[in-house]
Amino acid sequence: MSSSFCVVFLFSYLSLAFSQSVTVETEARAIADINAFIANNTNTGNQPEINNPAAKLVRLAFHDCPGGCDGCLNFENPENNGLMETYTIINGIFDRNGYAAEGMSRADFVALAGVIAIEAASMRQDCRMMPPNSTCPLVPTMTLKYGRRDCQTSPRTDDIEPFPVAHGDLSHVLMYFRDNMNMSTRETVAIIGAHSLGTTRLQNSGFRGPWAPPTDRFDNGFYRILFGGGNARWMQEEVNDTRSSVFPDSRYQWTRPGPGNGGPGPGNGGGPVIMLNSDMALLRDIDPDSDGRESNASCRMNSNNCEESMLTFNMVREFAMNNSAFIEAFGPAFQKLIETGYHGTNALYTAEEVVPTSSSPMPTPTESSTPSAGVGLKAVLLLTLSLFVLAVFA
Ligand SMILES: *[C@@H]1O[C@H](CO)[C@@H](O)[C@H](O)[C@H]1NC(C)=O
Ligand SMILES: *[C@@H]1O[C@H](CO)[C@@H](O)[C@H](O)[C@H]1NC(C)=O
Ligand SMILES: *[C@@H]1O[C@H](CO)[C@@H](O)[C@H](O)[C@H]1NC(C)=O
Ligand SMILES: *[C@@H]1O[C@H](CO)[C@@H](O)[C@H](O)[C@H]1NC(C)=O
Ligand SMILES: *[C@@H]1O[C@H](CO)[C@@H](O)[C@H](O)[C@H]1NC(C)=O
Ligand SMILES: *[C@@H]1O[C@H](CO)[C@@H](O)[C@H](O)[C@H]1NC(C)=O
Repeated sequence: MSSSFCVVFLFSYLSLAFSQSVTVETEARAIADINAFIANNTNTGNQPEINNPAAKLVRLAFHDCPGGCDGCLNFENPENNGLMETYTIINGIFDRNGYAAEGMSRADFVALAGVIAIEAASMRQDCRMMPPNSTCPLVPTMTLKYGRRDCQTSPRTDDIEPFPVAHGDLSHVLMYFRDNMNMSTRETVAIIGAHSLGTTRLQNSGFRGPWAPPTDRFDNGFYRILFGGGNARWMQEEVNDTRSSVFPDSRYQWTRPGPGNGGPGPGNGGGPVIMLNSDMALLRDIDPDSDGRESNASCRMNSNNCEESMLTFNMVREFAMNNSAFIEAFGPAFQKLIETGYHGTNALYTAEEVVPTSSSPMPTPTESSTPSAGVGLKAVLLLTLSLFVLAVFA
């Protein structure tokens, strides 16, 4: 009797210990799976909704976090339109590989996927465009901590979580990220730079067009396009999605001709680029009505006629002119985002500046953060490299 008690006690002790810490091995496996998902689907043209998987994963990581990062999305909420395919695949990977039994919650996995996606998309930076001798590519420093709790109904929920309103003004955006994610003004300006990735689609959001092509590269492109040398001429246009019942009402977006640099990558064909009010508000002091229509006609016709945004104009300019300033500011902001409603200590993986190295020791299970982080990173690099080689020669 006492021995069986001991066994039960030992078992629950072990499972408790297990459920509280993710090992480096588990993490390395998860990272490899996520990288494979990104590499397998980038620009393959197989499925439009996952053609730009890094952008989808970053958006998914964000969309899990309003109200607390909890491994639960509500697809009745139009905010999550266009994420279903990615979430389904990511859930399949998570469920098939038994990560939950190894102490990783679904919310942890989704957050890790966001970090890995930013890293992968950062590696696509165009170093020819950077100042001479600057470190490039630059990856934001983000430490992934584990221990998020999934909601009871994970992976789905019926809860309506609070999302920022795309046609809101500056005070709305700043208040949203301050109240929900504890972000400073500078962190809020930096987090919106995630729009360097991805595009808007009529059927998903009622808006149409990319922010900053190529849409699979993570850098300060969003600010360069928005700022446009200081006098970018944006015009607010009305977008009607008459084909869809999701967004039958008119929506307003800011549009200007794109840079048309024509290189490879989704959304890089030189078509128009767009900004939402919540983007434009970082640059210009816009005053949209409740439908999102700018109330000052001369501002609406040409953004150069709108006053500068007192609080944030200089940050947009700084990020537009200095990629490393942006990358440096983005890391802590994204980390706050993926820690919404949660403060953990079990830190293993740190995405950081890439230092090429010849030695790559075998990963060993450990809970300390410093040695494992480097090992994790090397594993990722090796894997990314081999997948890249495979992709090139396949
Ligand atoms: C990626 O593709 C490889 C080769 O087709 C396949 O074996 C692997 O399961 C795929 N992994 C993911 C995560 O999609
Ligand atoms: C870049 O670095 C190289 C070697 O460190 C140096 O010779 C060169 O002058 C540097 N160029 C600039 C523009 O700083
Ligand atoms: C909010 O952010 C500040 C600055 O980054 C930090 O010092 C503070 O602890 C955070 N507050 C909470 C409640 O997390
Ligand atoms: C959009 O719809 C509104 C009415 O719903 C109409 O007045 C407007 O002309 C339409 N705009 C375009 C560009 O079709
Ligand atoms: C619109 O903005 C311009 C430029 O800031 C300003 O001169 C003009 O007075 C504004 N018009 C209205 C109706 O507020
Ligand atoms: C760019 O930003 C980095 C990081 O904040 C800073 O160290 C560097 O001096 C800046 N470069 C310029 C040219 O301002």
